[in-house]
Amino acid sequence: MAKGIDPAARHLVVAANRGPVSFHSDPSGEPVVTRGPGGLVSVLTAMLRSNPGVWIAAAQSEEEERLAAKGASAEIKLDRDRYTVRYISFDAATYSLFYNIVANPMLWFIQHYLWDLGRHPDISENEITAWHDGYVPVNRLFAEAIVDEIGGDGGRHLVILHDYHLYLTAPLVRAAAPKVFLQQFVHIPWAQSDYWRILPPELRTAIFEGLLANDIVAFHTQHYVDNFLQGCVDVLDLPIDYARKSVRVGERDVWVRAYPVSIDPQSLRAAASSRRVTEEERMLLERRREYLLLRVDRLDLSKNIIRGFKAFDRFLDLHPEFKERITFLALFQPSREDVEEYVEYRRRVMETVAEINTKHGNTDWMPIDVRIQDNYPLALAAYKHYDALMVNAIFDGMNLVAKEGAILNWRQGVLILSENTGAYEELGAFAVGVNPFDMEEQAEAIHRALTMPATEKRLRSEQIVEVVERNSIEKWVNAQFADFSAKFAAG
Ligand code: F6P
Repeated sequence: MAKGIDPAARHLVVAANRGPVSFHSDPSGEPVVTRGPGGLVSVLTAMLRSNPGVWIAAAQSEEEERLAAKGASAEIKLDRDRYTVRYISFDAATYSLFYNIVANPMLWFIQHYLWDLGRHPDISENEITAWHDGYVPVNRLFAEAIVDEIGGDGGRHLVILHDYHLYLTAPLVRAAAPKVFLQQFVHIPWAQSDYWRILPPELRTAIFEGLLANDIVAFHTQHYVDNFLQGCVDVLDLPIDYARKSVRVGERDVWVRAYPVSIDPQSLRAAASSRRVTEEERMLLERRREYLLLRVDRLDLSKNIIRGFKAFDRFLDLHPEFKERITFLALFQPSREDVEEYVEYRRRVMETVAEINTKHGNTDWMPIDVRIQDNYPLALAAYKHYDALMVNAIFDGMNLVAKEGAILNWRQGVLILSENTGAYEELGAFAVGVNPFDMEEQAEAIHRALTMPATEKRLRSEQIVEVVERNSIEKWVNAQFADFSAKFAAG
């Protein structure tokens, strides 16, 4: 019989590289707080609403550095949410090795299969140094902050670590606070074992062992769970119970589980009715052509932006009757602008757009309208009015754009969805599925989406909305908390 406090009833501590908000100053120098970038903020906000706790994050701005220097957690209010955040300050050079070399691109590229292996990556002294002098110390400082926050043996705390930035944190927390209950949620794909062999044995072993110091390792899909379990055999030669989805590590059983993340349709609809969204909508509708093809992404290589544009180019070649009747609106949030691979990718994206616009456009019509800016209200406005939404990621942990778009769209627009997104497990049957590398298929998918009979469009979009409403964010939170209790009871 398990003893102690059920983890579901303990104090919650979440740790992620980024905190929940961004600090800016308005033109008069007054401080302004906005929601932080990335999908993680909305889903953790939903979890903290029902289970209040402390959020531990790396300080990213001057204001966060100031709060970090205080050593204690800070109360931050944003709209209807109140966050308790503890920021950790890192020396800039250490953080840069951690973020710009190891986390992005190295781990991100491995987990999204983005390396072109005939040419990259070189694991040289540079990468090994970045691991030892960047990734390891950042993880150590995260662990120290968590241990300090929980105090004692951890028996009163539930700690949830998030993502690929913190693979080495759990063992240090467990060593200092042996009664803590630990879960790590990996929000990106888990690559198959051979791809992990890009990393030298010492590094890949540390990553798998780091994750296995948790009580539960969580992913968005069953497929990533299976990849991880197989990895435990291939990399660490550990015994796996495939039926129970667990790994035996010494005296401990580690559960490996899938919890497909979702959105909160009600909050999204409320956000989409704001004055700023209505204003964006008005401007959008003024310029609207007969058809709107939309994509909304972080400017990231995993999103497969260039192939999406090339597929649109091919679509216009094959179906010239659509010329001047359609706009491909591409909304990109700038991302990782200090990472060389991202700078180069942005340049190639813009080059591709210029070529296609020159080839097909004229003085009155620009086929592709690209906006690179952090403008969530514009994305919400555009969701309402697309005829087709392109989500053609090379690989993607989940992809919440597919879900957000479906909830807000008024035109029974069609979802074009890569079979390599986590969302495909839930929505693939009702979307027009595509292989992200096959541009002929994507060009055809655009045509099919725009010419689909109204009844079929209605049926598909209603089914997507139904799945998203049913697999709500509450369900995501509740499933995890039910497993915290179940795992604790099971020992
Ligand atoms: O889950 C992946 C993630 O951590 C999300 O929070 C977000 O989409 C992205 O990666 C954030 O990347 P970055 O923090 O590098 O901007």
